[in-house]
Amino acid sequence: MIGEGATAQSIDEIIAGRFACREFSGAPVGRGTIEQILRVARFAPSGANIQPWHVYVLAGAAKDRVSAALREAHETARDEHVSEYSYYASDLPEPYLHRRQEFGRLFYGSLGVAQADIEARSRQTAKNYAFFGAPVGLIVAIDRRLQVGSWLDLGMFIQNVLLAAAGHGLQSCPQETFSRYDRILRPLLSIPAQQMVVCGISIGRARDETRGRLMPRADLAEFASFAGFDDQCATQMERTRPWEAETS
Ligand SMILES: Cc1cc2nc3c(=O)[nH]c(=O)nc-3n(C[C@H](O)[C@H](O)[C@H](O)COP(=O)(O)O)c2cc1C
Repeated sequence: MIGEGATAQSIDEIIAGRFACREFSGAPVGRGTIEQILRVARFAPSGANIQPWHVYVLAGAAKDRVSAALREAHETARDEHVSEYSYYASDLPEPYLHRRQEFGRLFYGSLGVAQADIEARSRQTAKNYAFFGAPVGLIVAIDRRLQVGSWLDLGMFIQNVLLAAAGHGLQSCPQETFSRYDRILRPLLSIPAQQMVVCGISIGRARDETRGRLMPRADLAEFASFAGFDDQCATQMERTRPWEAETS
């Protein structure tokens, strides 16, 4: 059953239509919609069904307080803060290094920012802390006593949040940048010491609804190996899944 406000797109269209939105219109999103998104997202699978997610949901003045504190820290004390976990390998091997460089070219290129312009890049990073103008911001945390398997579970939950939001015609952006400022977030949101701040998520309506994904994806052949199928199967898939061509 489709909940109130949800659209009747296929799951494939929703997955392929989601993108990291970094400019929101600011149009309000009601608590009921966010509750519905989270209620659906909790159906993410998790090893032994331990459901290792915790979210702090922010809107209005509460969100603004967090944004102001983080923006101030970003401007004045950036070097005093560090994430409790490493998102990227320090020495990215290929093909990931190449993809990351391509991301930088496309992302800063789309903003008209030279990659060497540290100040302009910092101004773009600062927009993360304003949740890119979104009306709702989530801070996602996990119990630090859990192991890497639970981080897999959490990733599935996060993706469910993004997809459920898309199903309601909303866009989103997952943001690891928030993990850097856990010492500021803790007292503001009463985050217990036992939890680690993993990321933020902005949710709202895209400012420009005609804009879509900027980032390409590697072709299937780069990440999947098949065995035991015949060619007819592959041809049939191409015929019935035209978006594959669009998104690769
Ligand atoms: C866990 C996670 C953390 C991310 N953190 C940030 C972030 O801090 N700031 C940001 O602008 N984008 C962030 N992104 C968005 C990625 O850059 C984006 O997903 C990627 O470039 C692919 O683009 P697409 O999602 O539009 O397809 C994050 C994505 C993920 C999955």
